[in-house]
Amino acid sequence: MKNFLNVHDVANVEELAQQAIALKNHKFDFKQLGNNKTMVLLFLNSSLRTRISTQKAAQNLGMNTIVLNLTQDSWQMEFEDGAIMNGTTAEHIKEGAAVISEYADIIGIRAFPTLTDKEKDYTEFVLHKFLENVNVPVVNMESATVHPLQSLTDLITIREHTTKSKPKVVLSWAPHIRSLPQCVSNSFAEWMNRADVEFVITHPEGYELDERFSGNATILYNQEEAFKDADFIYAKNWSAYAEYGKIIGSHDDWMITDKKMQLTNNAKFMHCLPTRRNVEVADDVLDSDYSLVIKEAANREIAAQIVLKTLLEQNV
Ligand code: CP
Repeated sequence: MKNFLNVHDVANVEELAQQAIALKNHKFDFKQLGNNKTMVLLFLNSSLRTRISTQKAAQNLGMNTIVLNLTQDSWQMEFEDGAIMNGTTAEHIKEGAAVISEYADIIGIRAFPTLTDKEKDYTEFVLHKFLENVNVPVVNMESATVHPLQSLTDLITIREHTTKSKPKVVLSWAPHIRSLPQCVSNSFAEWMNRADVEFVITHPEGYELDERFSGNATILYNQEEAFKDADFIYAKNWSAYAEYGKIIGSHDDWMITDKKMQLTNNAKFMHCLPTRRNVEVADDVLDSDYSLVIKEAANREIAAQIVLKTLLEQNV
């Protein structure tokens, strides 16, 4: 593995999840790997879980960590080639990324989509501008189209809590007051399509994901039908892909409730967090015994650690 940008950097998702689970009881056994090595974590957007769990994972491996909120703590970055920089941007990505690369052995980047420029977002413009100008491995900490650290975490959590070798996993759209990216859902779909699960996506009409991500998943517009016999319900809001970045109509009745969870095969509930209580997911689901959301968030640490361990062993 040269970088960890998306599922295509992983030879076998199930094997990587098993390696992460095996690492859980040996988190501090590999401190020499990161000795005198530095991870720089660059955030262009807010974060709680990714910021803390990725730093902790790097520190478990003996690395030093430096976090930079790029949009607040640094010079405003220019990404366009040939730009005449007589406006608000003060540093070009060509120098900025190259300089960061001099201080780092691994770089993590979070850069959300615009949700207004579909082409720019779906070509991962910002992530690729960094890649063009650094010479160390890059970890995607959630980009315009995917969130692979979250998806690896989700597969780890499913494997830890399944009683079946091939569980039924349902990705359900849920309501939100804001227009949110498709990245978590795209990413979850492409990882589940490579995992040994029966995978179903349910959402209102108009919220179809890009087929490059939804792949061969069964797509149902009837949420209750989708929930039947499910072993895992994974809830997430996303804005429309076709009508890019838009919220289409009102679908408050798609909130995940305990009553809907009763239609399943005693399914476990998952969500990447943060979530808006009683908009996206009801209290009675988040506070239930079948909710895995805290255990899932805890697994962000071992997901990040197995990725960093692999990058250190293979590149640094
Ligand atoms: N799930 C997730 O990535 O959380 P943060 O946005 O808080 O990092």
